[in-house]
Amino acid sequence: MSTTFATRMTRVQPSAIRELLRLGDDPSVISFGGGYPDAALFPYEELCAAAQTSLIEEGAISLQYTSSNGIPKLRQQIATRMQAQGTPCSADDVLILHGGQQGIDLVGKLYLNPGDVVITENPTFLGAMIALNPCEPRYVGVAMDEDGMDMNALEQALKANPTAKIIYTVPDFHNPTGVTMSLERRKQLVALANQYNVIILEDTPYREIRFAGEPLPTIKSFDTEGRVIYLGTFSKILAPGLRIGWTVAGPEITRQLGLLKLAADTQCSTLNMKVISLFMEQNDIEAHIALLRDNYRRKCNLMLTTMAETFPDNVTWTTPLGGLFTWVTFPQGFDSADFMRHQLLPHAKVAYVPGEPFFAENPQPNYARVNFSSQPDSRILQGVRAMGELLKHPR
Ligand SMILES: Cc1ncc(COP(=O)(O)O)c(C=O)c1O
Repeated sequence: MSTTFATRMTRVQPSAIRELLRLGDDPSVISFGGGYPDAALFPYEELCAAAQTSLIEEGAISLQYTSSNGIPKLRQQIATRMQAQGTPCSADDVLILHGGQQGIDLVGKLYLNPGDVVITENPTFLGAMIALNPCEPRYVGVAMDEDGMDMNALEQALKANPTAKIIYTVPDFHNPTGVTMSLERRKQLVALANQYNVIILEDTPYREIRFAGEPLPTIKSFDTEGRVIYLGTFSKILAPGLRIGWTVAGPEITRQLGLLKLAADTQCSTLNMKVISLFMEQNDIEAHIALLRDNYRRKCNLMLTTMAETFPDNVTWTTPLGGLFTWVTFPQGFDSADFMRHQLLPHAKVAYVPGEPFFAENPQPNYARVNFSSQPDSRILQGVRAMGELLKHPR
């Protein structure tokens, strides 16, 4: 049989990096690769209790189809938390999704024709490009510094691409760099998006994993024209396997995204939505998130101090104030994928994600995204020390 796939499939390809990461799946490898939360911190008992109640007491509801926009109670609970955190919204503005990843997919489908421009931080979340690629966009990457996306560079990008459709940003503890966008830049971003009539997709999976200080206002909270689509998820604050995320947007965008959601998968799992809703009713999710923060803060500190003790002077890294990642910069000419393939994996059984595929434009080989949340402390120590040793004395 000969099959002709749609042209969009040329943009849907396995990457060499994926193959490399698969090697990191070996349990004997200390993997700093995935953006995995610490499985030891999942609230098993509480989730079991919620699942049991959902099935035993409310099984007829939990196992049935429900509204494609999500069960009303969970939408209300999300809206209430978002309001409490300073983002005005109502339950009607909330659309429940199959993880944040589905939000990126649906927003792409809603706005992008082939060749349309998506502006992103450079580097950006690789999964966002994977989600948007089937829409065949063109990416324009905007440089970042320690305050997030550079607004002068963004303005230049918008001038050069005045019909750009979407600005995709991860403003809090950015994936992959760990950097947070400053307050001033959040306001500037909305002003520029208003001026150039662009949609902002504000992707915030790490927002609540803050190690110190007060959270900055969401970009959505500065939105006066209904052009910011806020994207949240329970993946990093509860459990990614439940696959529940959400958007907050105005009525028309929510309606359109809801139609696309219906077309894509009818609805999210009623049971999983009920479990999360009951979990929040019966437990203090804020206390659970505080526990995550304490643990990830400790792990981050351990990783960064061990890097400082063991890495050569020509290697640097970001100091994230939250989230799950640090972004390591190796010297010019260093190839982090090559180093992982020929040094780290065979000699130390350590993995990270080489930085190159995170770049929307001008890929650079001398970076790596290193996750500090998923491994226990002892393996963080062991893995970072082994990496430091090989960086100083490659075999
Ligand atoms: C920036 C960013 N957006 C979205 C997602 C998708 O998360 P999920 O689909 O599990 O909610 C991730 C996951 O790592 C992420 O890092």
